[in-house]
Amino acid sequence: MIVGVLKETIPGERRVALVPLVVPQLVSKGFEVLVEAGAGAAAGFTDQEFAAKGAKIAATREEVIQAADVLARVRADAAGLRAGQTVIGFFDPLSEPQRAREFASAGVSAFAMELMPRITRAQSMDALSSMATVAGYKAVILAANSLPRLFPMLMTAAGTIAPAKVFIVGVGVAGLQAIATARRLGAVVSAYDVRPAVKEQVLSLGAKFVELPLEAGEAEDKGGYARAMDETFYQRQRELMKRVVAESDVVITTAAVPGKKAPVLVTEDMVQGMAPGSVIVDLAIERGGNCEITVAGEVVVRHGVTLIGLLNLPSTAPYHASQMYARNVVNFLLHIAGKGAIDFSGEDEILRETLVAHDGRVVHPRVKELLGEA
Ligand code: NAI
Repeated sequence: MIVGVLKETIPGERRVALVPLVVPQLVSKGFEVLVEAGAGAAAGFTDQEFAAKGAKIAATREEVIQAADVLARVRADAAGLRAGQTVIGFFDPLSEPQRAREFASAGVSAFAMELMPRITRAQSMDALSSMATVAGYKAVILAANSLPRLFPMLMTAAGTIAPAKVFIVGVGVAGLQAIATARRLGAVVSAYDVRPAVKEQVLSLGAKFVELPLEAGEAEDKGGYARAMDETFYQRQRELMKRVVAESDVVITTAAVPGKKAPVLVTEDMVQGMAPGSVIVDLAIERGGNCEITVAGEVVVRHGVTLIGLLNLPSTAPYHASQMYARNVVNFLLHIAGKGAIDFSGEDEILRETLVAHDGRVVHPRVKELLGEA
């Protein structure tokens, strides 16, 4: 089986789907790895490194697409692919289900890394968690860089400096990493999530859990994700969070509900209540944002507060984001095709949950539903 790696085409995307480190893992299992020249350059991986680990380098994209049975992508698309080929990557089928149709019409079998089930067996393939880890870390670094204050408490001959106060809203994978990173920099950290299970994790990282007198009820679904709450709930949450936001130097929001627009949890009025120089990093911006006035793709200052709405933070640490993603992809590939071919008819949960298009059709029930094909 030939696994092709292409240079990513989306502007600003610096990650690459496989890195030299994982090539021997595939080669030892009988796979051939064919890399488009320069595919890893933006992430810091040279063609020479790929070749040294046993990959073949192809001069052109067409050559890779021509030869590959499976294409490993960061952001997958159907461009140039032919019937019978398989592609693995992110393509956000729950938000942009029509992409599934493009794969189906091309006769391509498409696996969406976003749909990896959150089960123990699939943890090593969980690319969303990998990317959220990078984003959570990067959010804190960006905030620390923009804040006119220092993060740690310092006791110096020039006096004592109070630590920065950081508030994390949404404590999934990104939120946990943000807490850990802010703590490492010495900030005083507090956090809130609608899922009550999170409290213990927050405390174990040395942060304070903000208790809001809110009845979240069934806030967690069976996959461990948050459920969407109604507008009355969000309204009440905003009222209760207003004071915490006002007292924070940095607010990092990561609150998301899969397949839904992100809830607005920080209004313009709440931004106005913050001290000048404060920073908000809106990690939910790709889903519309948790802050009412962050601007997608930009850093803006409103009411004296710096609002960071940069997109695709994982791509700003492309070396390690690619390394983690590549491990996830290889574990997945070996899981579905370890025996030399992909058994599409199998009952494997991991394969079934991630396969979106196959044999000319959209096959994933949730995506079909979104397309009105159910
Ligand atoms: P996500 O990116 O979908 O959402 C981020 C966080 O926002 C979640 O913790 C969610 O509860 C929270 N949120 C949603 N609405 C909110 C609101 N109104 N206010 C405050 N917070 C709100 O979530 P992510 O990071 O993908 O993780 C979701 C869950 O899956 C977590 O429990 C995580 O630990 C779990 N997980 C399990 C894995 C496994 O068992 N293999 C692997 C990875 C994650």
